Amino acid sequence: MIEPYASDFPVLLAPMAGYTDVVFRALCRSFGCDLSFTEMISAKGLTFGNVKTGEYLSLGEDEDAIAVQLFGHEPDRMADAAKLVADRLGPRLVLIDLNMGCPAQKIVSNGDGSALMNAPALAGQIVEAVKRVSPVPVTVKFRKGWNGDTCVSFAKVLEAGGADAICLHPRTRMQQYSGTADRSAIRRVKEAVRIPVIGNGDVACGADAVSMRAETGCDGVMIGRAALGRPWIFAEIKAAAAGEPYAEPGMKEKLTVAAMHAERIEAVKGPHGLVELRKHLPHYLHGVRGAAALRQRLNEAKNAAEIREFLLDSLENITI
Ligand SMILES: Cc1cc2nc3c(=O)[nH]c(=O)nc-3n(C[C@H](O)[C@H](O)[C@H](O)COP(=O)(O)O)c2cc1C
Repeated sequence: MIEPYASDFPVLLAPMAGYTDVVFRALCRSFGCDLSFTEMISAKGLTFGNVKTGEYLSLGEDEDAIAVQLFGHEPDRMADAAKLVADRLGPRLVLIDLNMGCPAQKIVSNGDGSALMNAPALAGQIVEAVKRVSPVPVTVKFRKGWNGDTCVSFAKVLEAGGADAICLHPRTRMQQYSGTADRSAIRRVKEAVRIPVIGNGDVACGADAVSMRAETGCDGVMIGRAALGRPWIFAEIKAAAAGEPYAEPGMKEKLTVAAMHAERIEAVKGPHGLVELRKHLPHYLHGVRGAAALRQRLNEAKNAAEIREFLLDSLENITI
């Protein structure tokens, strides 16, 4: 059992701003995801009592385990935010993750996210400060470096600061999402520290997870983009990791999951949920030829019941 993930080879849902809400997290859990993360939440917003920021902490009724990701660069404020999260969520909070990898300009220009990779001493102080107050394990998600390859020395700083585990997305900040994830960086970090190392980046199927584990020795994997429109990827990876066969859902099952997603988001968020759903739906139709007309129809749907109807009606016209 790997603390803090309560699994031998955890398969985690990555934090994804704008996507990993209560509804999507529940869908991923239903397919075997071991633990899901909130999107990155501003420590400043939380400690200033910003209502919108606080809403990121609302959990589903049956969501009994959550990892909360915080971003910020001030050690005391990060610690205050961690305390606030722990008080608010109680035993449902299983770990606090610190974002040191976000490449977005508006984040790094404040010294947050991957900008911390240029300030390793401060990064270490943040981990120490949060560790001092957190009742749950503290982990850090970071990148290969800002522009160069500094992840090994950075990982050692995080470990010395008391991080309980780390997760590496081995692209540099300057690469953003271009190129491919450099697995050698995960292997080098794994060899350099004693805490668990989660591998992240470009894992798109069960075989990718198995080969990442074999090539890097990582202790678990975190799945981001490949879970969009494919929450069943967790079942696929779990099967692959256990060496068991896996049958991909058929098109009808896939579209039924998309319809369920629509119904749940409408139930939780009302009509606004359907606006948010528009980002997810194209992912469910990815790779489906002749889906352009369906996409258009779905955008015009007035409610989740219509979305279900359009999705299932379309089965006869869809070819994959
Ligand atoms: C739309 C989107 C939003 C993201 N938001 C976050 C975030 O809030 N926090 C974070 O640490 N990483 C965030 N990421 C990065 C992912 O967690 C992950 O590290 C990255 O996508 C690489 O993994 P993948 O190849 O499995 O997608 C985001 C990525 C995407 C595509």
